[in-house]
Amino acid sequence: MIKEKRIILGSSGRINPCSIIDYIDAGGYRALARALEGNPERVVDEVIASGLRGRGGAGFPTGVKNQTASGTHPGITHYVVCNADEGEPGTFKDRIIMETNPHLLIEGIVISGYAVASGKGYIYIRGEYYDSINKLQSAINQAYEKGYLGNNILGSGFSFDLEIKPGAGSYLCGEELTLLESLEGKRGYPRIKPPFPAEKGLWGQPTLVNNVETLANIPGIIVNGSSWYRSAGTERTPGTKIFTISGDVALPGCYEVEAGAILNDLINDLAGGTRDGKPWKAALLGGAAGTFVPYSFADLSMCYERLKERGATLGSGAVIVMGSERKFIPMIQSILRFFKHESCGKCVPCRIGTTYIHERSMELSVAGHDERIAILDDMVIHARQIAKSSLCPLGQSPILPLETLQRHFSEAMATE
Ligand SMILES: Cc1cc2nc3c(=O)[nH]c(=O)nc-3n(C[C@H](O)[C@H](O)[C@H](O)COP(=O)(O)O)c2cc1C
Ligand code: SF4
Repeated sequence: MIKEKRIILGSSGRINPCSIIDYIDAGGYRALARALEGNPERVVDEVIASGLRGRGGAGFPTGVKNQTASGTHPGITHYVVCNADEGEPGTFKDRIIMETNPHLLIEGIVISGYAVASGKGYIYIRGEYYDSINKLQSAINQAYEKGYLGNNILGSGFSFDLEIKPGAGSYLCGEELTLLESLEGKRGYPRIKPPFPAEKGLWGQPTLVNNVETLANIPGIIVNGSSWYRSAGTERTPGTKIFTISGDVALPGCYEVEAGAILNDLINDLAGGTRDGKPWKAALLGGAAGTFVPYSFADLSMCYERLKERGATLGSGAVIVMGSERKFIPMIQSILRFFKHESCGKCVPCRIGTTYIHERSMELSVAGHDERIAILDDMVIHARQIAKSSLCPLGQSPILPLETLQRHFSEAMATE
């Protein structure tokens, strides 16, 4: 029987998120004090040694990003941007962190600011997250009052300011370069990569962009050390991971476990199994841009390396469970409607292509068995073409759900 291992969510539900005193009493801001005692390189080295990988979806090593951002153009303005856009369907972990323990995130941001020689940070947050915004703003005010933000933090000579910027509800604005355009006050259109934000980001300056969950890991790593961090999880995915389990389960919710936990244990032991008590039919891992897996993947270890071996994705940690009665056709129609809606329209293949594959998916409802197989094949071919010729990663997003639907469930979809 698997149990949660609450590190990031350790104080969630136990402390008052609106009280900095509660946070300090629970050991909060000790990591910041420890970081400021040493030089910034020590923080970067510790994060590299921890093996922490970005929790926003791509799994890029956080320490390497820190190193790039800190080493680029020494002496000029650097920024830290916390990506709290949380637009991936089925994902709601960042909201839980921000609403239950906002100071943990703030502490992680200030330490990261110190590591990359930045004096200014922004939290780019999903505009609909009213409660998160209010709690974060109140926590930021308290951190200024107590000297954990602002000038000469804890008498160290290091100064750092932090501001919240709500987004306007575009999925694409969660993509780091589009986010920076939006943060600069421009329309949410993507930029060409490279250069990466760590080299040339906000207003052309080196910028560290990290996800909420990634940054919330930093205080624990600094105060307890990288070996402690590596004692949980797997070799290539150390630490814990927060999974958001939704769909046809008895106890949908946000669960923190050691990375590498088994998929079926997450669904059965934590999320209470399916609502009808029968084995689940499929799970969509990583959200709308993720991968469908069948029940034969129940023994899947939820870490980057094992998932990759079996052609699945961890993404943001969303696990959308489909019970035995759930149908694939409305599911894929809903996913493709989402991408059509969220395409920014800047480039033709994605603008026209996402509309085309969505329209094709609507034909599935009235098609017969063989025709359904042919339509799915056609959608996969078009999704591959869109991916090859699109400007930004959103154009690549429909491929994985479509390919994995075709690989594992074409017959099930054709007969439903
Ligand atoms: C279309 C799209 C949407 C994204 N949305 C988010 C998001 O809502 N939150 C997030 O943290 N990362 C999102 N990402 C990933 C970011 O581009 C980036 O990889 C991440 O913020 C880096 O932080 P990390 O290294 O801590 O994971 C998105 C990427 C794409 C392509
Ligand atoms: S791929 Fe889609 S979302 Fe990305 S720039 Fe082109 S139209 Fe916009």
